[in-house]
Amino acid sequence: MLVFVPPHPLIKHWVSVLRNEQTPSPIFRNAMAELGRLLMYEASRDWLPTVTGEIQSPMGVASVEFIDPREPILVVPILRAGLALAEHASSILPATKMYHLGLSRDEETLLPTVYLNKLPDKFPEGSRVFLVDPMLATGGTIVASLDLLKERGVDNKQIKVISAVAAPPALQKLSEKFPGLHVYTGIIDPIVNEKGFIVPGLGDAGDRSFA
Ligand code: PRP
Repeated sequence: MLVFVPPHPLIKHWVSVLRNEQTPSPIFRNAMAELGRLLMYEASRDWLPTVTGEIQSPMGVASVEFIDPREPILVVPILRAGLALAEHASSILPATKMYHLGLSRDEETLLPTVYLNKLPDKFPEGSRVFLVDPMLATGGTIVASLDLLKERGVDNKQIKVISAVAAPPALQKLSEKFPGLHVYTGIIDPIVNEKGFIVPGLGDAGDRSFA
């Protein structure tokens, strides 16, 4: 498994806005969306299939390269907080479909329950999937979501996980269970406390985005 923390000043900026407890909800949501845009941009590099050809510009013939519209590029946000991080997916990716997954973590056991599953029974051949969840804490939620993707025929190498903050317990589980997976995150934080919150983290991303 590979974990990327793109060394970009804008990524540092939006993570810092998210960390600030004074950031009000609309600005928090906007910062999450901008971070998601940058992480999806970085994760797309050398991964999206293109087609080449020639096109007539107003001034002459030019060689061109477009994202191949025949190859499915899919986005799976994990509700709720993943919706904010995936907000700009359809503007940065030329042709994409979104499939929603809703998981909620029990406050006592920290185990996730799936309450919404809009995944197709089988993903189209050759799908590339962005799986989007801001917080990778104990890792229960992202592991359960990846299991659902695997059951539907998606290989680890076809998936890029996009997250705002990742912590060691989640990264450990992912590397054991999903070799070949690529994770793009804004930052790695050292601690998950007994309540399952990443420290210093940014608090409850779902509540801060939507409450
Ligand atoms: C939070 C967060 C992740 C999950 C991470 O979601 O957004 O999805 O917990 O925790 P884990 O790695 O320990 O499983 P939550 O269940 O609070 O739902 P929400 O997004 O609706 O707030």
